Amino acid sequence: MQGTTKNDLIVRIGGEGGEGVISVGDFITQACAHAGLDVYTFKTFPAEIKGGYAMYQVRASTEHLYNQGDIFDVLCAFNGEAYNMNRAFLRPGTAVVYDSPGDFDPEIPPGVHAYPIPMTHTAKEMMNPRAKNMVAMGALSILFNIPVESLREVISAKFTRKGEDVVKGNLAAFERGRELATALQKTDPWTIGSPKSKQDVIVMSGNNAIGLGALIAGLDFFSAYPITPATEVAIYVAKHLPKRGGTLIQAEDEIASISQVVGASYAGKKAMTSTSGPGLALMSEMLGMAFMAELPCVVVDVQRGGPSTGLPTKHEQSDLFLAIHGAHGDAGRIVLSVENVQDCIDLTVLAFNLAEKYQCPVILLSDGSLAFSTQNVPYPDPDSYTLVERARWDGEGEYHRYRLTENGISPMTDPGTPGGMHIATGLEHNEAGLPSYTSANHEAMQAKRFRKLKGVVNDVAPAEVDAVHGAGIADIGIIAWGSTIGVVREALQRLRAEGYSVKGFYPKLLNPLPAQQFEAFGASCKRLLLPEVNFQGQLAHFVRAETSLRPESYTICGGMPFTPEMIVNKVKEILA
Ligand code: COA
Repeated sequence: MQGTTKNDLIVRIGGEGGEGVISVGDFITQACAHAGLDVYTFKTFPAEIKGGYAMYQVRASTEHLYNQGDIFDVLCAFNGEAYNMNRAFLRPGTAVVYDSPGDFDPEIPPGVHAYPIPMTHTAKEMMNPRAKNMVAMGALSILFNIPVESLREVISAKFTRKGEDVVKGNLAAFERGRELATALQKTDPWTIGSPKSKQDVIVMSGNNAIGLGALIAGLDFFSAYPITPATEVAIYVAKHLPKRGGTLIQAEDEIASISQVVGASYAGKKAMTSTSGPGLALMSEMLGMAFMAELPCVVVDVQRGGPSTGLPTKHEQSDLFLAIHGAHGDAGRIVLSVENVQDCIDLTVLAFNLAEKYQCPVILLSDGSLAFSTQNVPYPDPDSYTLVERARWDGEGEYHRYRLTENGISPMTDPGTPGGMHIATGLEHNEAGLPSYTSANHEAMQAKRFRKLKGVVNDVAPAEVDAVHGAGIADIGIIAWGSTIGVVREALQRLRAEGYSVKGFYPKLLNPLPAQQFEAFGASCKRLLLPEVNFQGQLAHFVRAETSLRPESYTICGGMPFTPEMIVNKVKEILA
């Protein structure tokens, strides 16, 4: 079967939760990455364990990928619901592989290449109804040249834990799917690109990468309560931390987990929890306590659609207000946000370093799209990271835990250190740690705690400015945060190719806001646009509050991330 190589192919698989959609997406991703292609995936599934629409989009390319792409080139529909959900995106030139005979009889739009495959029927015929997804994957591998040897290896590797019969049955269904597709006339021109060179990469989800980053950073203690989409962080840590002598607790709720983390930190341990918006809301009291008692801790918030329990499995960037200001009294903290899987490793290490150095909570914001997105990253080298330990008392003179120092940082002691005994309390305290409510003391202590945070900007790489060398003043500058950054990167490339004068600005430190860096970027653009996946324009709000800039907000909150095309169209609309 002949085809034109598409260097950047997007395949979307849709079906019912429980039909194995996610497995097919994972297998194709692994196979492409093992073959040396760049991969970037997006998945969305219902909050129910079985039933509802599940979707997995794999983008594979010979070039470096920054996001999940626009709309698919190939749709694989396991059922009528998946077909109908995506019917509007079937443009001329796209291809659809669908279950036929199935629960639907699609009317294929003009110019769309259609490949009916009897997925359900074949799997039933083979007395293996679960393997419907493998029949589909076999067909996809033939039609679009997805590396077949890698797929066979992944099937064997992934189903081994379910028994030899399951492996055999699935391999047989996969081969049957290949035979069925070989008999079809291929009318679309697409086959997946061949990689330029095979690289030493690891394919990871954002959640797993956060777990890995924590282990690299020297995590000793982890406590969390399960919550979508953050649970995978805990699962990853649970697999690896105990082997290194660390401790993991599944607490009874988020209040208990953050309390245990703060307690472990007092005991001298590097400690962390992971949660999502509803859990972070419950932690606000203890986060204030950790700031008051000056105890390092890392809190990962994998944002999901809110408010309240909201949209548990959907993407949103709407916890920024909570992350920065979610506490009573004047409580400070450091807030970082990650762009991609590589950041999930690097910025988790940074989060620990900052927590230890500045003795305060650090909130690391990820999001629902990145949580489950798998990407290939270079094999991490733990030795390449610099690790920071908290300043500890040298044992000289009389120990005062909260000594008023010039930079606000005062050395800590671990419990049991002779002469280093102290109380860590949420009550206002004097330098020795004893309760004190005098106005002079409270003012001095608040100034000390916030003085510390002034140094943070120097310990985080400056926000990246995405500009062509010598670009001068841009017609429009786009400020982006979190996983929206990757979308903006590609949008800017496309706009530049069409002659537009555009720049990007990608802050990873969101609190304390690096205001001077924002101002400098703003001065190099005629207008500013700030796309973010929340209703209120949360980062735009902080930028307006803390700088002289007035970026135009572009907000969406439909549970899905932006696409590069949306950003391109918005810029064109503004500049028209
Ligand atoms: N043969 C044997 N087993 C197969 C198979 C095959 N051909 N294809 C898939 N499976 C197995 C998978 O290995 C997986 O098993 P595991 O649970 O032991 O790992 C299981 O079937 C589910 O398949 P998978 O492909 O992973 O998912 P799916 O596309 O069928 O969708 C989910 C199911 C993931 C959407 C759903 O089960 C789920 O978990 N929803 C999210 C629930 C949630 O988080 N709610 C939030 C509450 S607040």
